[in-house]
Amino acid sequence: MCVLKNHMPEISKTTTTTQPCMDVVSHRTLMNRACESIEYFRPVVEGLPVEKRGVAHTEMFFVYALGAALKPRQVLESGRARGQSTLVLSRCFPDSRIVSVEMDESSPDAKFALERLSSLKNVKLLFGDAREVLPAAMQAGDVVLIDGPKEFRAIKLALNLLRTGKPSLIFIHDFYAGSAERRFLERHMPDAFFSDAPEFLRAFAWLDGKDGSAPRRWNAFACIAGNRQRNYFLLSILLWLSRSASRLSEKLNPRRNRFPACHADPESSPGPVSDISPAR
Ligand SMILES: C[S@@+](CC[C@H](N)C(=O)[O-])C[C@H]1O[C@@H](n2cnc3c(N)ncnc32)[C@H](O)[C@@H]1O
Repeated sequence: MCVLKNHMPEISKTTTTTQPCMDVVSHRTLMNRACESIEYFRPVVEGLPVEKRGVAHTEMFFVYALGAALKPRQVLESGRARGQSTLVLSRCFPDSRIVSVEMDESSPDAKFALERLSSLKNVKLLFGDAREVLPAAMQAGDVVLIDGPKEFRAIKLALNLLRTGKPSLIFIHDFYAGSAERRFLERHMPDAFFSDAPEFLRAFAWLDGKDGSAPRRWNAFACIAGNRQRNYFLLSILLWLSRSASRLSEKLNPRRNRFPACHADPESSPGPVSDISPAR
C-alpha cells in the first residue's frame, strides 16, 4: 500500500508554524508518515471493537500518523464518553501523558470509561468543562484531540487554544464533508486538512473493515497545525458570523436534517457517514 508514497500529489504546500517539528503539514506528509507508522498502529487496534460514539480506527490512525512524529509530552483530549479514543491514544503514545476531560460525570459512559481506563499508567482522567480545563492544562507542544464540544463550539475551543501558541496540532472530530463547520475551515483556515482525504481512505479504510474506494460519505477529523501568525481575532469574528448564518439557515429550513444518519443515531457505528453519496 505504501507504493502510494511516490505518486501522492502535494495538495497543500509548506505551512509555516512556530511549533517544533511540524513545519510542513501536507497530504504528502500525511501519507509518508502513515506508511511509516501503519505497522506500529495495526496491532494497537487489532481486535479492538469500536464503542458507541467512539472514534473509528482510520480516524485514530490519522491522529497517530501525524502526531507521533512530534513525540508530544502531553496529549490533551476533550470528550471521553466510553473512552475509545482515550484507550487508543494511551496505546499509541505510551511515553506521553494523556489528559482526558469529560464533562458528563453522571452518565453510565463515565463509569464505563473509569473502569476501563483507570489502570492505565499514562492516562489522567478528569471531569469538567474542557473549555476551562484544557487552557489551564495546556503545555507547549501538546497535541490536542477535541471530540466534544462539537461543531462551531469545537472550533471556538480550538481557536482559544491555538491563540496561546502552545499546541503543535489540534484534531477536531466530526468534520464531515459539506457541513457548515467544515466549510468554515476550508474557507478561513485553508491549511487545515481532513482524515477523509481520498488517498488516505483508499490506503487505510481496511482498518475499519471498509473499502475506501467505494462511494460513501465519511466522518472526519480536521487537523490544524499550531501557528501564531494567524489572525485569531479576525477568525473569531468570522466564526461568530458563520455560526449565526448557519443557525439562521437551520431556522429557515427546519426540516433539513443537519446531520447525516450516523449523527442522528447515536447507536450507529462511526466512520463512514452514509453510503448514499460520495464525499465530494
Ligand atoms: C462523541 S463523545 C466522545 C467519544 C470518545 N472520544 C470516544 O472515542 O469514545 C462526546 C463526549 O464529549 C463530551 N463533551 C461535550 N462537551 C464537552 C466539554 N465542553 N468538555 C468536556 N467534554 C465534553 C460529552 O459529554 C460526550 O461524552
